Amino acid sequence: MTIGIHDISAATGSLVFALADLAEHEGIDVGKYHRGIGQTEMSLTTEDEDIVTMAARAAKPILERHGVEGIRTVVFATESGIDQSKAASVFLHGVLGLPRSARVVEVKEACYSATAAIQFGLGIVERRPSERVLVIASDVARYELNSSGEATQGSGAVAMLIAKDPAVLEIEPVSGLWTDDVWDFWRPNDRSTALVDGKYSVQVYLESLEGAWQDYRANGGAEFSSFARVCYHQPFTRMAVKAQQRLARIADPDGESGDIDRLADTVEYNARIGNTYTASIYLALLSLLDNGPDLAGERIGFFSYGSGAVGEFFAGVLVPGYKAQMRTDELQGLLEQRRPIAYDEYRHRHIAYDRVGDFETADETQGDVRFAGIAEHRRLYESR
Ligand code: HMG
Repeated sequence: MTIGIHDISAATGSLVFALADLAEHEGIDVGKYHRGIGQTEMSLTTEDEDIVTMAARAAKPILERHGVEGIRTVVFATESGIDQSKAASVFLHGVLGLPRSARVVEVKEACYSATAAIQFGLGIVERRPSERVLVIASDVARYELNSSGEATQGSGAVAMLIAKDPAVLEIEPVSGLWTDDVWDFWRPNDRSTALVDGKYSVQVYLESLEGAWQDYRANGGAEFSSFARVCYHQPFTRMAVKAQQRLARIADPDGESGDIDRLADTVEYNARIGNTYTASIYLALLSLLDNGPDLAGERIGFFSYGSGAVGEFFAGVLVPGYKAQMRTDELQGLLEQRRPIAYDEYRHRHIAYDRVGDFETADETQGDVRFAGIAEHRRLYESR
């Protein structure tokens, strides 16, 4: 029996802010953003969007295609949680009308945790192959205004159905693992923006990649030269280039597998959406599936990283016919539909983001599910 990703779909915030606009107001060359970090735009959420509404938007096409039968587990990976106790997936379970017979949890470890969620899903399906697991990765990435991380903000969600005999990607059993207790990026409970030691975080990311790769190989993982592509966590797309170069140096110094041109199909969405934390690596996968050539039967590598820090390297093989499963123009369409906002509105929204007490939100989202506001400390959602 093979197990893996049976379906995958994504969504993003309904607003878009161009990094050219940010560079102009900062008085710097936009080349730093377009080429230096490899980002052109960032997706931002409207007042009535959050991790739950984006997750619902991402999951809906999967549920419409496959129904809910067999989905007894929903694992929601995020680091921009909306409640300290109640899991975001319980809100999602409500707005999607999922069956009562379900275990529904939220998991956290910075940008890494969607990969843990997939691994949990693989274990559940292995034990009981009639079950399917809905994995959600959804985040709003926010940094302080005028900070080094500001250009790497973003928002988005990816939903994936983990099942036996998958139609998209068969995930192989070997994983390479790495964890170290470091302070490269974190967000204390009283903040909605992350704290980051930017240059150090890049260094830890690369150390983690090396460590996870060595563990992957020590556990019988495939050679680097056998990968048709590698999807990396992309806090900004240029990070994938740094990662590919580092991996090639240790894993295949004389070969061509480290060619950075191979990354092109994996960065299209992230360059226009920005960092989506847990969703970022799976947006890289979706970008490859939607925009890349047909790689049926080929092995794809994955490097998942979460600050703090945890890394995992694993691999999967694309299933023949997977291209026919793709909703190729769907995310592209959502990207085109986003409402562009200018610098002043962007700043205003950033400052107004942290609201306390009871409030109602303006009706702005382009999605079907909206965050309506807070009443008596309770988050309210409505579906159109
Ligand atoms: P910075 O210090 O403002 O930028 O922030 P810089 O001066 O290092 O410039 C960036 C690059 O642009 C450099 O290239 C410059 O040379 C180049 P590099 O040396 O890296 O190859 N550059 C130009 N290129 C072309 N034309 C120009 C030009 N000017 C400069 N005119 C930094 C960079 C990444 C530190 C910042 O964006 C940041 O702090 N970001 C947030 C942290 C982050 O994303 N870290 C990544 C690793 S940690 C991670 O992935 C986990 C995370 O996703 C969170 C989680 O796990 O939850 C963040």
